[in-house]
Amino acid sequence: MHGVDPLRGALREALKPRVEDLIGAQKTLYGPSEISALALRRRRALRLRQERRDVRPQAGERDPAEGLATWEREMGASEWARAGSGRKRERLVAPRSEAQRIAPSAIAGPIRRPALRSRIVIGIDLIRDAAGRLEPHLHRTPLLSARQLGDRAGVQLAIKAESFQRTGSFKPRGALNIVMSLPAERRQRGLVTVSAGNHAQAVAWAARIVKAPCTVVMPAGAPRSKIEAVHGYGAEVVLHDDRATLFDRLREEEARTGAFFVHPFDDPVGLAGAGTLGLEVLAERPDAEAVIVPIGGGGLIAGVASAVKQLSPGCRVIGVELEAGPGMGPALAAGKPVPVARPKTLADGLTPPFVGAIPLEIARRCVDEIVTVTEAEIVEGMRSLMVFAKLYVEGAGAAATAALLARKPKLPSGARVVSIVSGGNVDPEQVLTAVSACPAAADHV
Ligand SMILES: Cc1ncc(COP(=O)(O)O)c(C=O)c1O
Repeated sequence: MHGVDPLRGALREALKPRVEDLIGAQKTLYGPSEISALALRRRRALRLRQERRDVRPQAGERDPAEGLATWEREMGASEWARAGSGRKRERLVAPRSEAQRIAPSAIAGPIRRPALRSRIVIGIDLIRDAAGRLEPHLHRTPLLSARQLGDRAGVQLAIKAESFQRTGSFKPRGALNIVMSLPAERRQRGLVTVSAGNHAQAVAWAARIVKAPCTVVMPAGAPRSKIEAVHGYGAEVVLHDDRATLFDRLREEEARTGAFFVHPFDDPVGLAGAGTLGLEVLAERPDAEAVIVPIGGGGLIAGVASAVKQLSPGCRVIGVELEAGPGMGPALAAGKPVPVARPKTLADGLTPPFVGAIPLEIARRCVDEIVTVTEAEIVEGMRSLMVFAKLYVEGAGAAATAALLARKPKLPSGARVVSIVSGGNVDPEQVLTAVSACPAAADHV
C-alpha cells in the first residue's frame, strides 16, 4: 500500500496475536488520547471540506461524513464525552472507564504533534499506563550520583541502578507489562519464551505473579545459576543444545502448547514497560542532557528513547553496543535488521542474533548517537563501578558507564548525564577473574 509507515507495519505484525481485525489493530496501535486527537483532526478536516462544499461523494465513493461517523463509532470515539462548551473549543475526551478499557493493550503509533512529528513512537500515555500497572510489583530503583566516576568521564554523572530491580535486571518491566496486558484467558493458556538469561528470569517471575504456566527454552550451555533461577520461579525449562535452532525449538513449544510468546525485545507492550525506566530517570533528573543506554535487541533503548524524547526532546539518547558484534549500527545503515556476530563476552545480554524491527524504527527516529565498546572497556567499566560506586554488575550492565569512561559519546565537558546500569546477574567467579586481570587495578578510592 502507498505510503505505509514501516513502523506501523512492524507494530501490526507484532500485535497480530492480540488483534483480529483492522479496527482492533488501530485500537491497539493508538491510545485513547491519540484516538481523541485523531477523531478531532478528522472532524476538522471534514468541516473544512464542508465549508468548501467539496464534501459531496464522487460516484462510487463513500460519503465522507458517514465514513467518519462509522469509524468513530467502531473506534469507540463517538461514545466519548465532549468536554468544554461552545463550538470553537470542541474537544473529545475519553472517560476514565473507556481509557482503562483500551489502555492495557493499547499502543501508540507516532503521535502527530507538530513539533515532534515523526519522532514519537510509544506514546507517553502508554508508558505511564505501564508505570501504573507495574508499580505495585517492581522496585523503584535508585538513581545514584557518581561523582568520582563522573570526574573520570568529564561529566556530572548519575547512575540508574537497575541491577537492584527484581530478578536483578530491567527485564521485568517489559515482561510483566506484556503478561499483565494479555487477557486472563489468553495467559492462562501459558507463556513461553526463549532466552539464555535475564529475560528468561523475568518472564518466569512475571508468570508466577499472574499464576500462569510458563515454559522457557534455554541453551543447554546457559549459566547454571540462571537455569536454577528460572526453575526457582516455577517455570518449566527446556534445554536445547543447538543455539542456531533455539527459535525453532521455541516455535515448536508455542505450537504444542498454544502458549503466548513473550518476546524479549520486539513487542511494543514490552517497550512501553522498558520506557518506564525513562520516566523514572526524568522524574528525578528533568534537566539531564544525555541518557546512555546499552543495546542488545534494542528494546531497552527503544522504550527509554520514546519516553525521553516526549518529555525532554533536547535530552540526547546515546546507545552503546559491542565493538565485536554491533547490531543497531549496521541495521541503521542497512535500513533493516541484519545478522549480528555473537562474540564471546561478559556482556552476554548484548548478543542477540539481530535487533528488533520495532526498536530499529524507534532508534532511527529517536536515538542521537551510537557508540561501541571493547571487551577490555567493559571489564574496566565493571571494575570502576565496583570500586567507585560499590556496584556489582554484569557486563551488559556496565556497558553504558564503560562507554562514558572511555569518552566514546560526544558530550560537552561537565554535561549532566545519566547512565543506565541495566543488570547485575553475573557469576562471582567470572567477575573476579576478569577484574583481577584488568591492567588498571591500581586505583585508590
Ligand atoms: C543486563 C542487560 N542489559 C541490556 C540488555 C539489552 O537490552 P535489549 O535487548 O532490550 O536491547 C539486556 C538484554 O537482555 C540485558 O540483559
